Amino acid sequence: MTNHIDLGGGFTLPHTSLTLNRMGYGAMQLAGPQVWGPPRDLDSAVAVLREAVASGVNHIDTSDFYGPHVTNQIIKQALHPYTDGLVIVTKVGARRGEDKSWIHALSPQELTDAVHDNLRNLGIDKLDVVNLRVGGVMGPSAESIEAPLTVLVELKRQGLISHLGLSNISPQQLAEAQKITEIVCVQNLYNIAQRSDDAFIDDLAGQGIAYVPFFPLGGFNPLQSLALDKAAASLDITPMQIALAWLLHRSPNILLIPGTSSPEHLRENLKAATIQLAPEILADLDSIGKDTADAHNAYGSLRTA
Ligand SMILES: NC(=O)c1ccc[n+]([C@@H]2O[C@H](COP(=O)([O-])OP(=O)(O)OC[C@H]3O[C@@H](n4cnc5c(N)ncnc54)[C@H](OP(=O)(O)O)[C@@H]3O)[C@@H](O)[C@H]2O)c1
Repeated sequence: MTNHIDLGGGFTLPHTSLTLNRMGYGAMQLAGPQVWGPPRDLDSAVAVLREAVASGVNHIDTSDFYGPHVTNQIIKQALHPYTDGLVIVTKVGARRGEDKSWIHALSPQELTDAVHDNLRNLGIDKLDVVNLRVGGVMGPSAESIEAPLTVLVELKRQGLISHLGLSNISPQQLAEAQKITEIVCVQNLYNIAQRSDDAFIDDLAGQGIAYVPFFPLGGFNPLQSLALDKAAASLDITPMQIALAWLLHRSPNILLIPGTSSPEHLRENLKAATIQLAPEILADLDSIGKDTADAHNAYGSLRTA
């Protein structure tokens, strides 16, 4: 049964026929504590995914290194065979150590294995969108991405991938990538308090490329702010709903993938797509990310210098 609600309108990934509702779902948290399976409650994880899709979510973000393998296996259990129009975006470029650490995995063999792991565990023949994850969680690194991206371009040529995106990257790395292939989306760390990518988002919007912020709610360190609390109280909604609504107001190319393993939180998050924020509330909220927004301004003037 479906019960579609307004999920913030659609955004079509450039050079594709894929139109994603702006409110999507991030599946990382389904794997279990520390993103390492098994989950605390498998039935609930399956229920959250099914409810998300029944509510109209058509964009699920995942990776085979969540779990590892476990998140994709839960997605397959919950949703396979996948409905037409459901876009599963995955990422490669990391693997998990036995101590649950996150390790870069960017060699040709590691990237090829990762694509095949995703295909097998999701139960499909072709991946809709694959993000090449390059830097660390807290920010990009400066290295060239030509070598790993070329591996993915070849796997795309072989018919295993439809479209390519990038994750944990800088504007310079995007420019390098665009000399090699088309990039449909960028996934970096960004939220109302962490706004180093402000100028990058505007650049991407100008190019029609989707920006998909990870940790939209602060990730492992949930967002906390008096301005968020105040805005939430004034509208009788929750601070997390304000944080998501603010992102949707920030730029039309922002697509959301909040993560939750709770059906109640899922419903709350989806409803955030219907919230309108008045200019005075937006101005108050802007103060939360002032420090990182100032860094954005410095970056902007460097770029135009
Ligand atoms: N490219 C990368 O390097 C990278 C890194 C990290 C994440 N990601 C992707 O980004 C997605 C989103 O990131 P994330 O899940 O780590 O962080 P997030 O969406 O910022 O926050 C998730 C956390 O917030 C809680 N939460 C969710 N909705 C809530 C609500 N309405 N009220 C209160 N708490 C709420 C969740 O707990 P409950 O389960 O209890 O709701 C969970 O602990 C991931 O699923 C993943 O696909 C990508």
